[in-house]
Amino acid sequence: MRIVLLTSFLMAACTVGEVGTSNNTTTDGGNPEPDPAHLHITGGTSNKGLNCIVAGCHLNNNLGPGAPGYQFAGTVYKTGTTNPYPGAVIRIKSGTNIQTTYAHADGNFHFQAGTLQGTFNANTNVSGCPTITSMGGALVGGGGGGAGANSCNLCHAQTGGTTTPIQL
Ligand code: HEC
Repeated sequence: MRIVLLTSFLMAACTVGEVGTSNNTTTDGGNPEPDPAHLHITGGTSNKGLNCIVAGCHLNNNLGPGAPGYQFAGTVYKTGTTNPYPGAVIRIKSGTNIQTTYAHADGNFHFQAGTLQGTFNANTNVSGCPTITSMGGALVGGGGGGAGANSCNLCHAQTGGTTTPIQL
């Protein structure tokens, strides 16, 4: 009985979205119905690909009007393209604390400010069945230091970053 249940869970993992797995090394089905893109008042677009955790935008101690504070945020694209990957699963793992979110229709995702408290050294991965890609380097933070340092698109950018955009 146990084996049957486990098997059906595994088989469902790629088709039934939002099967949140409890570790940082497996894929799941993602969000079957990604949220629509948020269109910003200024500009009218999703701002996909931009470094959004900056002053006047989503930087928690210097927010833009009406903007929520983010601790981590970025954009996921389909491999080799500039097409967004709606429903991609983004995980952040710090010790036993595992946080999961999903990319919306334009590939953007975020974790609210305060998701990881205090000093942390976290790992991250991005998945969309059946692919998973993990970042080798750590996400580090603590004490409110390093404004923008955990803004994924600060580093992962088409231009001006330190590495390629996040692709899956
Ligand atoms: C300080 C710069 C920096 C930040 C911030 C950063 N990354 Fe990365 N990331 C890198 C670099 C450099 C690599 C390639 C080397 C490695 O894997 O560590 C990478 C690799 C990756 C990879 C694997 C390869 C790829 O591009 O698909 C994923 C997935 C990833 N990062 C996701 C994220 C996510 C999600 C965030 C935000 C929560 C993030 N990164 C924040 C610099 C950064």
